[in-house]
Amino acid sequence: MRRAQILGVAHYVPSRVVTNADLAKLMTTTDEWIVQRSGIKERRFIEKSGIGASDLALPACRQAVERAGRSLDDVDAIVFATLSPDVTFPGSGCLLQHKLGLKSIPALDVRNQCSGFIYGLSVANAWVRSGTYENVLVVGAEVHSTGLEFNERGRAVAVLFGDGAGAALVGVSPDPDKGIRSIRLHADGAGAEDLWLPAPMSKNDPRISHEMLDQGLQFPHMNGKQVFRWAVEKMPEVAREVLADTGLSIADIDYFVPHQANLRINQFVAAALGIPEEKVANNIVRYGNTTAATIPIGLSEGWEAGKLENATVLLAAFGSGYTWAGAVIRF
Ligand code: UT7
Repeated sequence: MRRAQILGVAHYVPSRVVTNADLAKLMTTTDEWIVQRSGIKERRFIEKSGIGASDLALPACRQAVERAGRSLDDVDAIVFATLSPDVTFPGSGCLLQHKLGLKSIPALDVRNQCSGFIYGLSVANAWVRSGTYENVLVVGAEVHSTGLEFNERGRAVAVLFGDGAGAALVGVSPDPDKGIRSIRLHADGAGAEDLWLPAPMSKNDPRISHEMLDQGLQFPHMNGKQVFRWAVEKMPEVAREVLADTGLSIADIDYFVPHQANLRINQFVAAALGIPEEKVANNIVRYGNTTAATIPIGLSEGWEAGKLENATVLLAAFGSGYTWAGAVIRF
């Protein structure tokens, strides 16, 4: 059976840099608190209203296709992972397909939050391996900045998130020994309310009311300590699962791209697995948590630094749902 590979990967972040000091002007917080708790020093926000997740994805997709040595005409499907779609419907995949000038190819939206990119990668992997499609664009893109509450009530969440996008072109691996070797996906809906954005909600009539707005249900809510506990347990667990699938060991891993929710989580996970710091991608310091985009951004920065060449790469994510996922890819 043929194997699928990430043939090219790229990212795009908006130019507007928002520092911790900028946020401290809007609410009671400090650079020291944010750095100590999360590792984040700055994040990127869209420059102006009117820029959606599909707009951030566009330059990342063009560059990923170029890095893969393909043209946009070669793309036969799009998988778009986001928790902040441009609009409620249709999916951002359809919007992106039109912006890329592609006609009639399928566009699937994936709603698995921080694990969304790996969930999307698993779909592309299955399509390419089965021969359903040859070249699939897998995208993770988010605009968080328009949906955060920059005041006392929202400060615990607002300081953590940033805008950004990453994209990978997945196609047939030219070398059957290389490519996507294992992907494992998990979910546990028992934790759904530990990290969620409840309103507008279709189960409620009306879906949104002044009362709900006053309660701030249109903003994300997180039980940070509980999510932290699960993340540090499930990320090493899924990493060990994908390593066991491939018969590889930690010593074989050249580059580890964990989801970027918290620098402390990543340090904890890397230490639990015994992966040295210099092998770990940690862009949370500069971009904050870009949910579905963190892993393709980490891969893209690895690509640019030459770290993916002939490398064995480990991915692991944990987030809202709960969902968690891992992958091993040989470049
Ligand atoms: O990608 C999705 C997955 N998400 C995650 O994996 C996130 C996991 N959780 C975390 O990363 C951490 O729990 C946080 C970084 C979110 C929070 O760190 P924490 O050590 O759990 O802090 P906390 O929520 O317990 O808050 C500690 C204190 C509280 O004050 P009191 O009750 O001790 O007086 C908060 O009110 O810090 C206060 N606080 C803040 N202070 C300054 C909360 N937000 C802020 C803030 N600035 N922005």
